[in-house]
Formats: sequence, structure tokens, C-alpha cells
Amino acid sequence: MPLTHEAVHLIDDRETGLHGVIALHSTRLGPAAGGCRLWAYDTHSDMVTDALRLSRGMSYKNAMAGLPFGGGKAVLNAPLEGDRRAAFLAFGRAVKALGGCYITAEDVGTTVEDMRVVREEARSVAGLPLMPGQDRAGGDPSPWTALGVFLAIEECVRRRLGSDLKGVTVAVQGLGNVGRVLCRMLTEAGAKLIVADPVAERVRRMEAINGARGWSVTNIHGAPAEVFAPCALGAGLTSYTIPRLHAKIVCGGANNQLQTDEDGLLLLDHGVLYAPDYVVNAGGIINVSAEYLGETRDDVETRVRQIPLRLRSLFERAEAVHLPVNVVADQRAEELICAGAAKRAA
Ligand code: NAI
Repeated sequence: MPLTHEAVHLIDDRETGLHGVIALHSTRLGPAAGGCRLWAYDTHSDMVTDALRLSRGMSYKNAMAGLPFGGGKAVLNAPLEGDRRAAFLAFGRAVKALGGCYITAEDVGTTVEDMRVVREEARSVAGLPLMPGQDRAGGDPSPWTALGVFLAIEECVRRRLGSDLKGVTVAVQGLGNVGRVLCRMLTEAGAKLIVADPVAERVRRMEAINGARGWSVTNIHGAPAEVFAPCALGAGLTSYTIPRLHAKIVCGGANNQLQTDEDGLLLLDHGVLYAPDYVVNAGGIINVSAEYLGETRDDVETRVRQIPLRLRSLFERAEAVHLPVNVVADQRAEELICAGAAKRAA
């Protein structure tokens, strides 16, 4: 029986016209941590559904990464009416009203500057800029996410191909903050790159700097590579794309890569080793959590380097019980949440 959400708080601020939702999936392991997304939703129901889905994902991601946090997510409806600063002050008041149960940070559509504004009202905010020369964790989480993805790809290649990354071709979908850093790490490890991004300049730069081969955005999943690394949007692994995958390993940074949970079974049936997204891309939240807890960059690196070990144990368990690895990952995350909650209660 999957865990259900603890609470959903609606934000409806008359003064600024701000509409949004803060969903708390679980606070069993600690305050519910997860970013604040600003997105144009067609309906109120779409907005609530997204908050529920994303907050559940954060619970699993935080538990799996061994962090002392539960899972939550805020979503705000775009476009914001009027003054952006006033809207984020109103959001800050909504966060404060939860009395520390929810920790926010930037996400799609929101910025470090927005979080600075939220911080004027609420203490439970992470993702604030680092002071120069600080050894403390914080700042841009993307390089840590990319490191986790890189280490996870290494683990998958060792497991499936029995080799290191030298000469292995990786198809990278999306050359944003995560994809770009990942490509650099892959090149340094001797991998070959095939890349796709709708922003042509990003592809051209990758071809020039890292000797990558540009590929069509619509068919990057079918590119002749051993590894497919989704680092763009979610829901790219579907009943249409999975049978057309060339790679036998899927491991990337994008959130919510499977369109439906059943696509995990489809990947298994097609002989594809799938590395569950929220295990692979936890580097960002590990960094955000360390910032919140006042830890150092070394603490972050130690935790990120555990990602391949976690993956290995999931792969082993999935093989032993003959289940898709995404199902086994969800089961494991729920076990960790329940065990952690029992320990806190004792
Ligand atoms: P970003 O917005 O910097 O980059 C996304 C890139 O994907 C952009 O270059 C965009 O042009 C490209 N893109 C969009 N549609 C595409 C398509 N159909 N095919 C190929 N490329 C496409 O985002 P960022 O920060 O690099 O994140 C990438 C993914 O990783 C997202 O799903 C994000 O939710 C996830 N993620 C990011 C974390 C972080 O620390 N930045 C942490 C955990 C997850």
C-alpha cells in the first residue's frame, strides 16, 4: 500500500493574485524538502496533480539519498500577476505559516533571487548564493547532479558492458546545466558523445569543444549509442520511444523519465538496464540539503559518491526478485521512510 500525502495547502493570495499549492507528501524523516516550481497550468486540477506527483518523488529521492528530510513541493501558477517580488513575499508567508514543515528552494521557473525574497519572510529556504571562498555547501546544484549522473553511468557500463567508459558512446539528450557538465566529464573519461538540444548553438559548442556528434532532437533515443542519458524534460521514455531505443542502458539526470510506471516493465522486456532517475539525479538535493544543514562540500561529495553503490544494490535486488528496477526503487524508498519514521518515534 503506497504512502499517501500528509497535507495539501492551497495558496490564494488576494493582494498579489498568487495561486499555488504546497504539497507535503511526507514529514516522517524530517521537514518536507523540495523546490518551488512556477509553471503555466491549464487548470487548477493540473496544478494540484503536479504538486502531488512531484512531492511524492521528492520523498522517495530524499529517503533514497539518506537525507534527514521528507518530501514536499510547491507549485505556483504562471504567469504571476503584477509584481514578482510581492508574489514571492506572499509565497514566503505561506511557507512560514507551515512552521518549518516545508523547506523550499528554486526549481523550474524560479531563481536564486526569488529565494532571496522568500528568505525575507521564511527561514526554511535553501538554494541561496554562496559567499566567495566558502567551503560550505551551497550554490548551483547542477554540477553535483552531473557528478552523480556520471558516476551512475560508470556503474551501469561496468555492470552491463564489463568495461570503463573509454570508447563507449553516450547519447545525451539536453545540453543545459546538467547535460553540459556531464558531457565534459564523459569526454574526460574517454567516452564518445552524440548530443541533441533544440538550441542549435549549444550543440555547435559541444561539437567544437568535446568532439560530439549532433543528432536530431526527435530521434536522439534511437542514436547509435551504448548509453542513452536523458537530461532534458521528463516523460521521454514511453511505449513509443522504448521499442526504438538503440542503447541498452538508460541513465540520465532528467526527473520523471518514465511516462508511466509500466514503462519500467517495458524497458526490462526490451533488455534495457534502467537506472531510476531519482536515485541517479540526487546530487542536486544532496547539495541543497547540505547547505540547509550547514555542511561542507566534502560532505556533499561523500554522499554523491554513494549513488553508484545504491544503484548496484537496487539492480541486484531487482534481478533477485524479477521485478523492474523502478518498482524495486519505490519499494525500497517506502521501506526507508517507514523504518526511519519508526526510529524517530522510538
Ligand atoms: P536546463 O533547463 O538547464 O536544461 C535543459 C536543456 O534541455 C536545455 O538546454 C533545453 O534546450 C534542452 N531541451 C529541451 N527540450 C529538449 C528536447 N526535446 N530534446 C533535447 N533537449 C531538450 O535544465 P537542467 O538544470 O540541466 O536539468 C535537466 C533535467 O535534470 C531536468 O529534467 C531537471 O528537472 C533535472 N534535474 C536537474 C537538477 C539540477 O541540479 N539542475 C537536479 C535534479 C534533476
